[in-house]
Amino acid sequence: MSRNIVVIPGDGIGTEITAVAQNILSITAKKAGLNVDFEEVPAGGAALDVYGEPLPQATVAAVKAADAILLGAVGGPKWDAVEAKLRPEQAILGLRKALGLYANLRPIRVLETLVDYSPLKPENIRGVDILIVRELNGGIYYGEKGQEGDRAWDVENYSVPEVQRIVRTACQAAKLRRGKVTSVDKSNVLFTSRLWRKTAGEVAAEWNGIEMSHMYVDNCAMQLVLAPQSFDVIVTGNLFGDILSDEAAVITGSIGMLPSASLGDGAGLYEPIHGSAPDIAGKGIANPVGTILSAAMLLRHSLKADDAAMMIEKAVESVLEEGYRTPDLYKIGLTKVSTEEMGKLIAAKIERPQ
Ligand code: IPM
Ligand code: MG
Repeated sequence: MSRNIVVIPGDGIGTEITAVAQNILSITAKKAGLNVDFEEVPAGGAALDVYGEPLPQATVAAVKAADAILLGAVGGPKWDAVEAKLRPEQAILGLRKALGLYANLRPIRVLETLVDYSPLKPENIRGVDILIVRELNGGIYYGEKGQEGDRAWDVENYSVPEVQRIVRTACQAAKLRRGKVTSVDKSNVLFTSRLWRKTAGEVAAEWNGIEMSHMYVDNCAMQLVLAPQSFDVIVTGNLFGDILSDEAAVITGSIGMLPSASLGDGAGLYEPIHGSAPDIAGKGIANPVGTILSAAMLLRHSLKADDAAMMIEKAVESVLEEGYRTPDLYKIGLTKVSTEEMGKLIAAKIERPQ
């Protein structure tokens, strides 16, 4: 049986990083005895320029028929003046809705080789291993919205089943980790958050070995900087998750390294946390590791190939330990490499692990 992987390069550095990650995926799949086919489709600014819309119907049809999707990044200043419903970001929101991707997993890990890159003191960041589980299909992003005269509104709303399913995802993930779930809300102010907190507590009570605590989002923003090592799994709504995951990513100092998975009941979508970085696009210097590690998550979650995922993760770690860095993480005494060279080094490790 062959598995169909749809690749969406998108905009900016998207093309370069997905090319490298697709190659790694292909090599790893072969090594693990998996059959995969790739199909490339347009979305984002690249699709808007050619088809007049950021998420063409043909792209939606392709992702719906796929086993998994690997995405680079969308957006850039070129489309800043475009009206709201045609913006490249709409492609992402549309894909999340079309595929029912309600669970966004953002693992924030700090490799020992990279502790010095953090803006925090090494002793405060060493060993950080957080999984942010962000609800991705509801909340203020998709609530009623509009504008009339000098007033505009976006409504936050969550239902009990929506909260239940995302909290279950978080508990399930925590079971395979350290068993701690922090549910983040603003229940001192918001009705949606009070429903969230009550529901989250009820779900967690059904899970053996899960320790759930609740935290206000403003406090969580502080704790991520003060005591990032104290977190295991964080589960939260769409907007809080958007903000906290950027904060958690940046305290590692190596945002180019971080992957993500968006999961629903069908095909999952995998993409790096960073954006399209138009300022360095086409220069061959982008860090492909976030996308490569997203490919590893694709193998793990969509193709159920944990061994293959680990081949990629180990290869990435050893190449970094040997001192190879793209310019974003280069320091004197290390070896500076291009996007493509980084890909080749990682591919070589997968082909010939030591
Ligand atoms: C993210 C991004 C998106 C979001 C944008 C591009 C719509 O910031 O994936 O975190 O807000 O969800
Ligand atoms: Mg974001």
